[in-house]
Amino acid sequence: MARHGSQGEKILGVLRQAQRFVSSQEICQELGISRSAVWKQVEALRRQGYGIEGVSSMGYRLSTVPDSFRVLEMERGFEPLRIGRRIVVLEETDSTNDDAWRLGLQGAEEGTVVIAEMQRAGKGRRGRRWISPARTNLYASVLLRPSVLPSEASLLTLLAAVELCETLKSTAPLEPRIKWPNDVLLNGKKVAGILAEMHAEQESIHFLVLGIGVNLNMSQEMFPEELTYPATSVQCVLERPVERVLFARRLLQNLDQGYERFLQEGAAPVRERWLEYCAHLSDWLEVETPKGILMGRFADLDEEGALVLEVPPSRIERIRAGDVIRLSPGKGRMPRGHG
Ligand code: BTN
Repeated sequence: MARHGSQGEKILGVLRQAQRFVSSQEICQELGISRSAVWKQVEALRRQGYGIEGVSSMGYRLSTVPDSFRVLEMERGFEPLRIGRRIVVLEETDSTNDDAWRLGLQGAEEGTVVIAEMQRAGKGRRGRRWISPARTNLYASVLLRPSVLPSEASLLTLLAAVELCETLKSTAPLEPRIKWPNDVLLNGKKVAGILAEMHAEQESIHFLVLGIGVNLNMSQEMFPEELTYPATSVQCVLERPVERVLFARRLLQNLDQGYERFLQEGAAPVRERWLEYCAHLSDWLEVETPKGILMGRFADLDEEGALVLEVPPSRIERIRAGDVIRLSPGKGRMPRGHG
């Protein structure tokens, strides 16, 4: 496998930039290696799935790139400030969150990303499982070491949901929405979710793992029937597959920029952007909380990302952890049967 900065990767760089046939001699000169070394590297790249045409009088041309996350590792195509400076790509694993957690314990640098082509035991929020078939979707975990209070960590999951929406919108004419706290919906069905796991003391975060799962190219039949919330994929909505590597690259770029902005400007822009994507502001909701199910009107999102619920007749509840289990659209009206 070609590593970042390796000869194979440099050849790819030359071919990608040229977008035409490049003679073997040019490559030799550019890299300072022999013709046979170029040939060996091209063969290795072909074995990894790259389509490289070779014509004896003209040289080599890159015609196709495999939709494999290895490509992301090798051809980052962007200069991240933090998120994506190191990308670990795995063919399969139990859960990328567990891998990123282990790296966190070992002192890995902030912004390290673990991506897998398949998860054997993908984890969802609240102990649920996350369906993770091979080479179909995106399963990524980002290791962060933010200097914020543990109580502010949920803002980072909200930020990730916003950046997911931005990435979906830049991929195709889609209209993503967020269901509190951080489920991303397309046409009212869940397309992506975020699982944050935090290693912290009372006053400080050692590290935070942001696990992001996006259903990209799953067909409707691949979803099990017993899901708690209706699910979809980008492919189901667009009726065509999406390029997973391109999507992952854009998402990492957006996360990197969004995180930088969060560190510089704080929570206010995150909250504002989140509210723009919110699926149910002012609606009547049923929310499952550690204290039980609450019914009320979604009045606001507070500075720490808690859902502010107006519970009739006049109680205000701030909900930090929970799940919106039923939406009852109807701005400002209490639905029938409730008061
Ligand atoms: C949710 O329940 O909405 C959260 C789903 C999070 C799934 C992602 S996939 C990558 C990372 N690894 C995991 O095991 N879970 C998260």
